[in-house]
Amino acid sequence: MGLVPAQRLPLDEVLLGDCVARMNALPASSVDCVFADPPYNLQLGTAGLLRPDQSRVDAVDDDWDKFDTFGAYDAFTRDWLAACRRVMKPNATLWVIGSYHNIFRVGSALQDLGYWILNDIVWRKANPMPNFRGKRFTNAHETLIWASRSAESKGYTFHYEALKGGNEDLQMRSDWFIPLCTGEERLKGSDGQKLHPTQKPEALLARTLLSSTNPGDVVLDPFFGTGTTGAVARRLGRRFIGIEREESYAEAARARIAAVTPLSQAALMVALPKRAEPRVPFLSVIEAGHVRPGETLTDERRRFKATVRPDGQLGVGPVAGSIHKIGALVQGLPACNGWTFWHAERDGRPVVIDAFRERMRAAMAG
Ligand SMILES: C[S@@+](CC[C@H](N)C(=O)[O-])C[C@H]1O[C@@H](n2cnc3c(N)ncnc32)[C@H](O)[C@@H]1O
Repeated sequence: MGLVPAQRLPLDEVLLGDCVARMNALPASSVDCVFADPPYNLQLGTAGLLRPDQSRVDAVDDDWDKFDTFGAYDAFTRDWLAACRRVMKPNATLWVIGSYHNIFRVGSALQDLGYWILNDIVWRKANPMPNFRGKRFTNAHETLIWASRSAESKGYTFHYEALKGGNEDLQMRSDWFIPLCTGEERLKGSDGQKLHPTQKPEALLARTLLSSTNPGDVVLDPFFGTGTTGAVARRLGRRFIGIEREESYAEAARARIAAVTPLSQAALMVALPKRAEPRVPFLSVIEAGHVRPGETLTDERRRFKATVRPDGQLGVGPVAGSIHKIGALVQGLPACNGWTFWHAERDGRPVVIDAFRERMRAAMAG
């Protein structure tokens, strides 16, 4: 099964319509990751949820969350999960978020369809909605299932070291303590009310995408809502395909994403464990033709310059040295990672030289 070039995909777009039909129109084996926040099938009934003072709780009572029977919900779940699996690359992974109302049904459908569960993550809400009737425990978490396409899937992305580094050198655990989406981040309509009942926090999406995707990867979200996945993907240098059947949500998502400023390439550079990466010296990058001898390299903001020498060193005036040594020298610093500091001008934009090394590593990995 050949992989589909990203140019053939509707990248960074919000597609309007039913997600199963829309996904079935995409090429097979084309996306690197799926994040799905499907209808929860909350089964609130017509009365809805009331507080002790009989006021109505602002819960999910929208038509898109209603299914007549569990059987109908299961059939819907199988359809969209099968459609996702077809468009996933062999090494892609899928995230599904849900509550006790639906996540167990989703989990068994996943396994029946051949997916392989890698983890379940408990999103522990820092500020959950109280249990108004006082008859059950406060519902303070949701569950995310993280799965590969099959038990045999090899080489899926997991940034173990980066997550550990961000967690003060402790392995990242499967229980995540993250607040609900509130305040400025929560989209409001012209009436000042929440625009969408289940907008997810960006921090939750950031952790999923940072752990399981690389910059440039394509993330598909078949239940896009307000476009949280798209906003975070854009900020983190990932590409997205969003599908949403309600026009008003799709429009709000487009406006939200357009306002996002992507982080710089240097900030997004993924630190893989040294032992896992084949060593590629800067000389090999020159020999492979990615950088030309005599070419000028600069830092991202073009404040510092150095010339590429044919022997794989950089030169500044009479001084020559490694990309790291010269990077440190021009900045007056004791050390510098030359791979992320130096950039080559390509199509009018500075491209970090580490991107060339990554290209060579990808080619080596086949
Ligand atoms: C739980 S919400 C997703 C919220 C989203 N994660 C966010 O942060 O805003 C589910 C969304 O899926 C949409 N939806 C439901 N069924 C759908 C279908 N068959 N195809 C496409 N979208 C659908 C709903 O309109 C709703 O906006």
